[in-house]
Amino acid sequence: MSDPRVIVALDFAREEDALALARQLDPQLCRLKIGKELYTASGASLVEGLIAQGYQVFLDLKYHDIPNTVAAACRVAADLGVWMLNVHALGGRAMMEAARDAVARRRDRPRVVAVTLLTSMHDADLVDVGIGGSARDEVLRLARLARECGLDGVVCSAQEAAALRQTFGPGFWLVTPGIRPAESTADDQQRIATPREAVANGADYLVIGRPIVRATDPLAALHRINDEIAR
Ligand code: C5P
Repeated sequence: MSDPRVIVALDFAREEDALALARQLDPQLCRLKIGKELYTASGASLVEGLIAQGYQVFLDLKYHDIPNTVAAACRVAADLGVWMLNVHALGGRAMMEAARDAVARRRDRPRVVAVTLLTSMHDADLVDVGIGGSARDEVLRLARLARECGLDGVVCSAQEAAALRQTFGPGFWLVTPGIRPAESTADDQQRIATPREAVANGADYLVIGRPIVRATDPLAALHRINDEIAR
């Protein structure tokens, strides 16, 4: 499988746990996501170690700062060799364009995707922070802005994916967390979709953590999910 769609979320506090899981999985069958917890614990050396094992890495640090600072961080992430990184669309046009430009001329440049609204935010939370519209409208507006800024796609829920795919057509990557195979528990995820539903809604990549990470046999769980997507 040359372009695996599953991105396994390495939500660990300890480098040893992340490396142990990576050894059980297969870079031909999945990519890996490193978020704030693991990155804070283990930093760049772990990213380099996983890349050296053959994995493509999504660095999920959701940059949100002044354009110059975000661009500098994106350049360092590109130097590390990450496959994908992300920024908050709420950082605005200049920040997203700076992120795009920072990596644009690299060979094998990292893909840059935007987080629109955090899926943990509901309409009442938006009122609290002074955002007027409904979450659904804001997600579409911020995704449109990300696309205008030349980003490669957005992180979105599988429910949002259908409307985004319809609005933007093919070629704009939709990366969806909140995925649960039919036999899994929802954990703390509110709006879940099965791998098949997410792909049917237009998702390009599926971020999956606990259904694989906490499985008794993570590789077997990954195989089942890949089979479900391929069917
Ligand atoms: O274990 P689970 O499959 O729920 O993990 C999902 C991963 O995707 C976690 O790393 C979580 O932080 C991330 N994520 C999410 N919802 C978002 C953005 C990221 O669940 N809106």
